[in-house]
Amino acid sequence: MNSMRIIVAGGAGYIGSHVCVELVKAGCKALVIDNFVNSSPKALERISEIAGGDVELLEADLADPADTQRIIDAVKAFRPDGAVHLAGLKAVGESVAEPVMYYSVNLPATFTLVRALEEANARLIVFSSSATVYGALNENPIDEDGATGPTNPYGRTKLFIEEILKDLALADKRWKVCNLRYFNPVGAHPSGRIGEDPNGIPNNLFPFIAQVAVGRLPKLKVFGDDYPTRDGTGVRDYIHVVDLAAGHVAAIDYLSRKATPGAVAFNLGTGSGVSVLEAIGAFKRASNRDIPYEIAPRRDGDIAEFFANPSRANAELGWKATKSLADMCADHWRWQSGNPNGYRD
Ligand code: UD1
Repeated sequence: MNSMRIIVAGGAGYIGSHVCVELVKAGCKALVIDNFVNSSPKALERISEIAGGDVELLEADLADPADTQRIIDAVKAFRPDGAVHLAGLKAVGESVAEPVMYYSVNLPATFTLVRALEEANARLIVFSSSATVYGALNENPIDEDGATGPTNPYGRTKLFIEEILKDLALADKRWKVCNLRYFNPVGAHPSGRIGEDPNGIPNNLFPFIAQVAVGRLPKLKVFGDDYPTRDGTGVRDYIHVVDLAAGHVAAIDYLSRKATPGAVAFNLGTGSGVSVLEAIGAFKRASNRDIPYEIAPRRDGDIAEFFANPSRANAELGWKATKSLADMCADHWRWQSGNPNGYRD
């Protein structure tokens, strides 16, 4: 790993910034490509501060043809060994309202990155996929051979990109691909310096709870308490973002050690589920704040329970989630309370 050179597309975002920290700590050199559409350049300064080493930046839009040549030139000049690809739009509701926008950003961004890697002769890519590719078709715990059937355009872009990268690895054995299927990433770096900074009102549970705890939002709506789960609320496999980031480093290491790995999918999750009420309770303990909530109707498209079988990643990548729900809440709270307005302070 030491001294590997890695492109991080979308490296200023929530997950990308944590990936950069782990890469720098592992001795890698990183070139971030980001257009800051849903991220802040401040994250890059803080990555250096935490990891004790700089990352390079190319401010460019992978989905904009006007930027393509500049990206290819910069990638070639960087002489990368491979890339982590996290560049894309990621809001489920918005993708339902604006499907063409989602397809016309997430797919072309991938094509440009692949082309730049080809030209740089660096055919290794770790893709930021999502457990959302499974849809609601499988029994828990979900393994990588489960059926796929995402239920919204965002999820379909993830699945299509996985398939495109698989085709690429089938066509050309020099390509090495990991499709990392994230369960529910939460938490923040324990330093409290980088974390999730959603635009507008958060859609996801943890950022919403955190903004209620800090007083930015008045009350949480618990979407349904009549699911067939232990307390009636939805159960998910929350994974600490630092564990998730370490999974990317493990994936790069795995691909670089294998002669012809092809394209391999890995679940990144803890393997155990947490209910909405359990998450509220844990966050309350970590923050020592009240978290007012009310029971609301189920949210369209939600399922009762969703958690990973992470044993392939445990065995093949030698990776395992190590951080507890209490860690996730404590670290998420440290970030939110120290940066109540995210990077906008
Ligand atoms: C959502 C996305 C998924 C995406 C993932 C990223 C949907 C339908 N799915 O998953 O595609 O990959 O985020 O992490 O949006 N909840 C509340 N109140 C809230 C928010 C959430 O009760 O204000 C509940 C939900 O009903 C669910 C749980 O909290 O049971 C987790 O929700 P969320 O954080 O949005 O994640 P997912 O729905 O699992």
